[in-house]
Amino acid sequence: MLFTGGTVVTAQAAAPAAVRVVDGVVSEVGDLTALPGEEVVDCHGCLVLPGGIDTHTHLQLESMGTVTADDFGSGTRSALAGGTTTVLDFATQFHGESLAQGLAHWHTKAAGNAVCDYGFHLAMTQWRPEFADEMADMAAAGVTSFKMYLAYRNTMMVEDDEVYAALSAAADLGCTIGFHCENGRIIDVLAAQQLAAGHTGAYWHQHTRPPELEAEALTRLGMIAGLSEAPHYVVHLSAGLSIPVLRAARAAGSLVIAETCPQYLVLDGSAYGEPDTDRDGELEARKYVMSPPLRTPADSDLLWKALADGDIQFVGTDHCSFRIAGQKDAAVDFREVPNGAPGLELRLPLLYSYGVGGGRISLERFVAVVAENPARYFGLYPRKGVIAPGSDADIVVFDPSATWTIRHDLLHDGCDYSPYEGRELTGRVRDVFLRGRRVVRDGEPLKDLPPGGFIRRGLPDNEIR
Ligand code: URP
Ligand code: ZN
Ligand code: ZN
Repeated sequence: MLFTGGTVVTAQAAAPAAVRVVDGVVSEVGDLTALPGEEVVDCHGCLVLPGGIDTHTHLQLESMGTVTADDFGSGTRSALAGGTTTVLDFATQFHGESLAQGLAHWHTKAAGNAVCDYGFHLAMTQWRPEFADEMADMAAAGVTSFKMYLAYRNTMMVEDDEVYAALSAAADLGCTIGFHCENGRIIDVLAAQQLAAGHTGAYWHQHTRPPELEAEALTRLGMIAGLSEAPHYVVHLSAGLSIPVLRAARAAGSLVIAETCPQYLVLDGSAYGEPDTDRDGELEARKYVMSPPLRTPADSDLLWKALADGDIQFVGTDHCSFRIAGQKDAAVDFREVPNGAPGLELRLPLLYSYGVGGGRISLERFVAVVAENPARYFGLYPRKGVIAPGSDADIVVFDPSATWTIRHDLLHDGCDYSPYEGRELTGRVRDVFLRGRRVVRDGEPLKDLPPGGFIRRGLPDNEIR
């Protein structure tokens, strides 16, 4: 198979070139002409990109008394339609389980259902001494990244001593741990204060999780991680206030990396509407109940700058979809609204349109933050994240001039809304290939998609910028 006429983009350069694929692997990139019998994919006018890697998804996650609207079937189909060919999902060790049980549980969910390639982070909702050995077992099984929550008290939140123990074990293994950075104890106090004042609507969610609580948790994490010089990263960074914290930690020698998400770059807290609203306004606000909450346009500007400057290294979606009907609408007050929103399919189009089209990041930086840096940090490079001889032929043919308006009925997830409804974008995924096999044609995933594969991963490259 030969991809001709397009501009091949890596994190380092964008140049006209053809790409030859043999047996699902890139064999040559350059000035190539078709061999007799070779299938040609005409990419004139298009960018030829490495398949996207979403570093942060929650598929078929049991949370807040319900389960996410997307399982591995619908979620990964939606991923492919949006140019993401690998997802890293959070396998979760629930209270009382071993890490092996959490991993086995997630393998059962994904195997035979996922249609793109996938790996797992292992989320630990508590610490037990035997987990140090179990983390080594996980790494041997290809799960080289972990996660802990500094919020969601009584379900997933861990305490500082647990963070210290886990980071020490991770440092011994060379593995990384991602942290949800918000101060869960103070969130509970602020939420109780709002409820005592009669403030029950989704509008108030943002006021219980101010940016200070993210920056504080990140500062505390940095100090604890410094004790063992452990690799670690912050998931879904949302606040401008956190960026100087990252810089200071790095200047002090910390191995800290940062992920942000499209929602914090493109949306803002005006989505929560007004405090006094009718039922329709309340349901509209509930679409955006996620943690951390949406911030201000000034925060988004700072995040874009940090992404361009290398202070933030990659973009995942935190795709955690709950339907309005029967899920978000059932909550009595803001504390009960299932936290999370969909976004898996729109990561590349949003980053391209607002980022490259908006003059906020270069084309090469776009590829770095959606594909190459995730691959390098999560031990997938150079198999994934780049179009180069020897890499998997995970290829996205992206039309940079197509204009379109986001409507949920154009998307392929299992949710019943998009937080980005009505946004006008320039740039659209045309065709997608997973290990050399076509999986999307003209923006539509093919009907019978073969299963994706579990990818065993190596150790993080802490030098990414
Ligand atoms: O609101 C969110 N983000 N839900 C998913 C769980 C998490 O915190 O990542
Ligand atoms: Zn989180
Ligand atoms: Zn998440």
